[in-house]
Amino acid sequence: MAERGDQVVGGISINGIGKGFVNQQKEKITALSNINLSIQPGSFTSLIGPSGCGKSTLLRLIAGLIHPDQGELTLDGVPITKPGSDRGFMFQEHTLFPWMNIYENVAFGLRARGIYREKSASVQEFIELVGLKGFEKYYPHQLSGGMCQRASLARALVGHPKVLLLDEPLGALDAFTRMNMQDEILRIWKEHNMTMIMVTHDVDEAVYLSDQIVVMTPRPGRVTKVVDVELSHPRARSSQDFLKYHGEVLELLDYGGKIQEPDFYL
Ligand SMILES: Nc1ncnc2c1ncn2[C@@H]1O[C@H](COP(=O)(O)OP(=O)(O)O)[C@@H](O)[C@H]1O
Ligand SMILES: [Mg+2]
Repeated sequence: MAERGDQVVGGISINGIGKGFVNQQKEKITALSNINLSIQPGSFTSLIGPSGCGKSTLLRLIAGLIHPDQGELTLDGVPITKPGSDRGFMFQEHTLFPWMNIYENVAFGLRARGIYREKSASVQEFIELVGLKGFEKYYPHQLSGGMCQRASLARALVGHPKVLLLDEPLGALDAFTRMNMQDEILRIWKEHNMTMIMVTHDVDEAVYLSDQIVVMTPRPGRVTKVVDVELSHPRARSSQDFLKYHGEVLELLDYGGKIQEPDFYL
C-alpha cells in the first residue's frame, strides 16, 4: 500500500470514461468507450492490447493531459482535471532534453516547480537509484538507450509522485536490458510504495510485474477483462502458474493459437 504518513494514497477510480478524436479526414474516432476501472493504492496495473486500442489515451487522461468526453476519473477521491506533481509520467521514447546533462534533466521538474533548493538532494538520490551515479555530467547522446530510459525514470520519480504512469517504457530496449529494467522497476515500486500504471505490448512483462492486467480491444477501445495475477514477487517466468496467466492473457488477445487436429496420424 502507498502510505504517506498514516494515509493510504494513490487510488484511482475510472468511471464510464469515453473519449473521441477527430482525425485528419475530419472523421470522428471513438478511442475509448465506457471504461470502468478501479486501481488500488500502491498496486501495479498493466494496460495491454493491440495498437490503437486507447492505452496511451487512457494514460494521458489519468495524467490530466487530456479530458474525457464522458465519465469521470478521480485520484484519492478528487476529480482529475489537470496534470499535477502527484503523477509522474514516462513516455515510450525517452524525452530527455539533448542540451541538458543527466543531472540537469533529472532536476528539471523540480526547477520548473520552484522547489529545487529544498529538494536538490533527491536528484542525486534518484540518479543513484537508477544506477547512473558517475554519469551526471554526461549528455543523452553519450549514453545508451537503456541509460537514457533510466534517466527518464529518475526524472519521473524525483518529485515523489503518488502515481507513476509508464507508456511502453521499455519498448525500445533489447530483451535482456528489458528484463533487467523490469527488476529495477519492481525494486523502485517496492521501495517507494507508488501506484504504478504501465502500458505494454509484452505479455511476459505484464505477468512478471502486475497485480492486475487490463486487457483491451480496439474500435472502440474497451476493457475485455481485468486479470488479477495472484502470484508473489519475485516471479519465476517458467513456473506453471506464471505460464497459466501468460496463456490466459494471450488467449484474451486472440493470440493463444489453435491446437489443430492433424489431417492424418502416422
Ligand atoms: N490526438 C489525437 N488525434 C486524433 N486521433 C487520436 C489522437 N490520439 C489518439 N488518437 C486515435 O485514438 C485511437 C487510440 O490511440 P492510442 O490511445 O494512441 O492507442 P494505443 O496507445 O493503444 O496504441 C487511435 O485510433 C488513434 O489514432
Ligand atoms: Mg500508445
